[in-house]
Amino acid sequence: MVAFSFIPKSHHVVMNHLSSFWLFSLLFTTAIAAQESSITRIAFGSCANQSAPQPIWDAINKFDPQLFIWLGDNIYGDIKRPLKVFGKERTFGPWRNTPRFIPSSEEEMKSRYAIAKATPGYSRLHRNAKVIGTWDDHDYGLNDAGKEFDHKVRNQKLMLDFLDEPLDSPRRKQAGVYASYTYGPPNRKVKVIVLDTRYHRDPLRSDGSILGDTQWGWLENELRGPLSEITIIGSSVQVISNISATTGPLFYMESWGRFPKERKRLFQLISDTKRNGVIFISGDVHFGEITRYDCSVGYPLYDVTSSGLVQYVEKVIPYTLRPIIRLLFWYTPSTMRVINEKCKFKSCTYGQQNFGAISIDWNANPVTIRLEVRDVNGHAVLGTNVSLPELQPRGPNILTDPTAKGKSQRHCTLEIDLPGTTRYRLAVLIYFTTAVLAMALLGLIIGVVLTITACVYKCKVD
Ligand SMILES: *[C@@H]1O[C@H](CO)[C@@H](O)[C@H](O)[C@H]1NC(C)=O
Ligand SMILES: *[C@@H]1O[C@H](CO)[C@@H](O)[C@H](O)[C@H]1NC(C)=O
Ligand SMILES: *[C@@H]1O[C@H](CO)[C@@H](O)[C@H](O)[C@H]1NC(C)=O
Repeated sequence: MVAFSFIPKSHHVVMNHLSSFWLFSLLFTTAIAAQESSITRIAFGSCANQSAPQPIWDAINKFDPQLFIWLGDNIYGDIKRPLKVFGKERTFGPWRNTPRFIPSSEEEMKSRYAIAKATPGYSRLHRNAKVIGTWDDHDYGLNDAGKEFDHKVRNQKLMLDFLDEPLDSPRRKQAGVYASYTYGPPNRKVKVIVLDTRYHRDPLRSDGSILGDTQWGWLENELRGPLSEITIIGSSVQVISNISATTGPLFYMESWGRFPKERKRLFQLISDTKRNGVIFISGDVHFGEITRYDCSVGYPLYDVTSSGLVQYVEKVIPYTLRPIIRLLFWYTPSTMRVINEKCKFKSCTYGQQNFGAISIDWNANPVTIRLEVRDVNGHAVLGTNVSLPELQPRGPNILTDPTAKGKSQRHCTLEIDLPGTTRYRLAVLIYFTTAVLAMALLGLIIGVVLTITACVYKCKVD
């Protein structure tokens, strides 16, 4: 209005015209500005070893996200000691007497964060996109650590420095790095909640708490708060998949599934707060996977897992043996995994470097959301499309509705409810193979010993 103040009174009519024109163009430009600020591309990832090459950032920059979400192990801050089965300092086996991982000093953590931040591909992304996130165990400071960890206060500051959190941010005063953000114009709101699954977590196998009371109260407020069309909840560890149920007793992974009471509480809270449009994203496991659970909140809950940006499961295996890993992935049963023709491998998991990509088409009717895991070339290796109305309760629960049919029914059985012969088939295969190999080795040894004794005896007689 200041611009018009010099116009004389005699031009009143003109000015009225001018101001309505001005108002109109203001509205028009705001509408355009609003349109421009809709979030349409979100990338996320986890497990970035700052000491290793990080070619994945080129693919992420090519995707050109408006927002990037760190899901933890943003650096490897702790010290991994060599695998030692024998000797004085043993780091492996039930007979071990020395921890495999130990925390590093504050100076060392700082220098690792500095290396990560200076990675050229990442700093380019950092200039062009908003970067937010949470942490997992290795940047929290120690493998598999929870609330008992000594250096959590110190490391929270270092992590928030890495994310350029303002010095007066309340996030620097609270216990833990959980936070929430809202982006986009009305009717196109995307809320992003990042959880802290470390700071307050009770010991593994306790079936205690993951979030702790304060964070639970905060999360409830966030979910009850202003509506958003889409609500993305970032958790460092997987929420939907409970892979431990099918890999145990061989090995166990960290996940919400390992804390069944806490997981139930999370689903109950989403359901009680009637929050629609919730999508989980997660990391941690060193492979990519998309899962869904249809029988918890009245609509399918998706969990898009991307791990890792740099550390991935196939890295530790010789090239020629990689197909075996893929075969084992395929052989391990899963009830929640989204299996479709978009997967690069039959298992519908992806064990090489990857990032998560969410693309939202607000102009489509209905609004569609593309959930993907992409490889180092930016190609989708896992993917599924979800329409926004699908993420709302529609009448009766699928479990209790006998007329509901189709593929969504497949994602209701918990892994632990699979018949034993299916659930433990990986363990059976591994134990059986090991037993056969051990017996073959034993047979070979006995054979050799017998031959030598026979020969020695024969040689003597001769
Ligand atoms: C990170 O990468 C470096 C260099 O390749 C390697 O020596 C180190 O073991 C890796 N860290 C982890 C935790 O695997
Ligand atoms: C996940 O698997 C673990 C290990 O078998 C089991 O103890 C836990 O109850 C499972 N959680 C859920 C939610 O099924
Ligand atoms: C999702 O939709 C896009 C077009 O928006 C299409 O190119 C892609 O193939 C679809 N993906 C799946 C898994 O159907």
